[in-house]
Amino acid sequence: MNTREHSPEPTPVATSYWAIVPAAGSGKRMGAGKPKQYLPLAGKPLIAHTLENILQWPGLTGIVVAIAADDREFEKLAAAQDPRVHTVTGGAERADSVLAALEFLSEHADPETSVLVHDAARPLVSGRDIESLLAAGPTALLAQPASDTVKQSRDKHGDPSVEQTLCRDRIWLAQTPQKAPLAVLCNALKTGLAQAPQSITDEASALEMAGYHPQLVPACRSNFKITHPADLILAEALLQHRQTLENIQSGTQA
Ligand code: CTP
Ligand code: MG
Repeated sequence: MNTREHSPEPTPVATSYWAIVPAAGSGKRMGAGKPKQYLPLAGKPLIAHTLENILQWPGLTGIVVAIAADDREFEKLAAAQDPRVHTVTGGAERADSVLAALEFLSEHADPETSVLVHDAARPLVSGRDIESLLAAGPTALLAQPASDTVKQSRDKHGDPSVEQTLCRDRIWLAQTPQKAPLAVLCNALKTGLAQAPQSITDEASALEMAGYHPQLVPACRSNFKITHPADLILAEALLQHRQTLENIQSGTQA
């Protein structure tokens, strides 16, 4: 029996909020020889797109970016000069980086302040999706309903043959941002990391362990996480397309 079924949702109080950006990864799957957040994308580093996007979110108080201890690139970014942008040193895993930022924020913001955690590697989140997330319940995340048929394999590594087909109706693919009140998320992440660190793959998984049921907010497919080299090419094409669209909409291009 799930004794946490009726755990309370925190009271919605957020009128302003902070963003946390984990950016301390090394980009192993990209295999580029430098962390993927600093690879060029449409004329500037990937992370510059993400930060400039976030700085336009309505009602944003500030951003805490978790960067690697040996990072020498961040300070060169234009966004790094913005007084709303702060940095902390990240940790070994994404969750450690997020926790470092939450602990920093705990000393500077109200415990009930809403926090939106957003991957540095997702530069293409849309303003419309951010508005939907801000309007959602106090714990919520952007996610995409699965569109392909979902197979479960018999074995994680050795045997790629099918064990079963999962019912797709309730399968969602989690994206970021993921939203929660500062103290709620900080406590959930600390407890989750202490009890089952391998299960904490995003903020929602820590909140779920603490008995919350974060709201799934349907999001645009363009908010994919840049992970492999092909993702970078796709993001570049979408950014060029988006710029053309914006030019047409603002009447600067016939
Ligand atoms: N991240 C982080 N600290 C870590 C690991 C990851 O802040 N110790 C950040 C990454 O910089 C990225 C986000 O978390 O913005 C999502 O992680 P992921 O896509 O897995 O990035 P990497 O860990 O860098 O990539 P890989 O897993 O391929 O090494
Ligand atoms: Mg990783």
